[in-house]
Amino acid sequence: MLPAERGRLRRFIVLEGVDGAGTTTQLKALGAALSAAGEPHWISAEPTGRPEGALIRRILGGELEAAPATVAYLFAADRCEHLYGSGGIVERLGRGEAVVCDRYILSSLAYQGATCGIELPLYLNDRFPLPSLLIYFDVDPRQSMSRIDGRERREIYELLPFQERVRAAYEEALARFEGGPMRILRVDAGLPAAEVGRAVLAAVGEELGLDLAAGSRE
Ligand code: TYD
Repeated sequence: MLPAERGRLRRFIVLEGVDGAGTTTQLKALGAALSAAGEPHWISAEPTGRPEGALIRRILGGELEAAPATVAYLFAADRCEHLYGSGGIVERLGRGEAVVCDRYILSSLAYQGATCGIELPLYLNDRFPLPSLLIYFDVDPRQSMSRIDGRERREIYELLPFQERVRAAYEEALARFEGGPMRILRVDAGLPAAEVGRAVLAAVGEELGLDLAAGSRE
């Protein structure tokens, strides 16, 4: 279990899942629904587009090599800058924006947990605040991998046996947060995108006190 006193950021929402689980598609729909509702918001993602994230992308793309532990440190550095850097999560929340992020701490516990063991990512992420809502896109990697099979550019993690391990590591990581301050919603990401979208809009709407589901039927 993680320390009980760990902070939680209100109006900070995170989407998580194995590669190809469909979080990116849902983020776009969510951004459109939040704009239509006139809700100030910021849609972001990790790895970020900042220099730390760019370095990670080069490693994931196979251009640079790095030890698994180094990758865990880099993701933590990128997250720190994403949270506390200029124009980052804490600053945006402070000025009243809702923040929705594609991947956060759970990705490090799952992916780096599967490459270098859970202890290092647990330690490196121990101090970062939790989101108020985490939406976990649960899908069989055989299905999610078939979605990304057509992509030209493949990253080092995008192989079926590794994704199976990541899914198991997600389950293990999620269990650590059960009963904690972060609300966790699991969605069956094997369902059609429209159905997944309805569940996501309903949960985010509830979190932000908005009727987003109505906007989605336009
Ligand atoms: P992804 O969301 O798949 O980006 P894209 O759709 O643009 O390729 O993220 C890239 C990869 O980064 C993905 O395989 C998961 C991995 N990742 C980690 O290994 N640890 C982390 O902490 C994060 C945030 C991502």
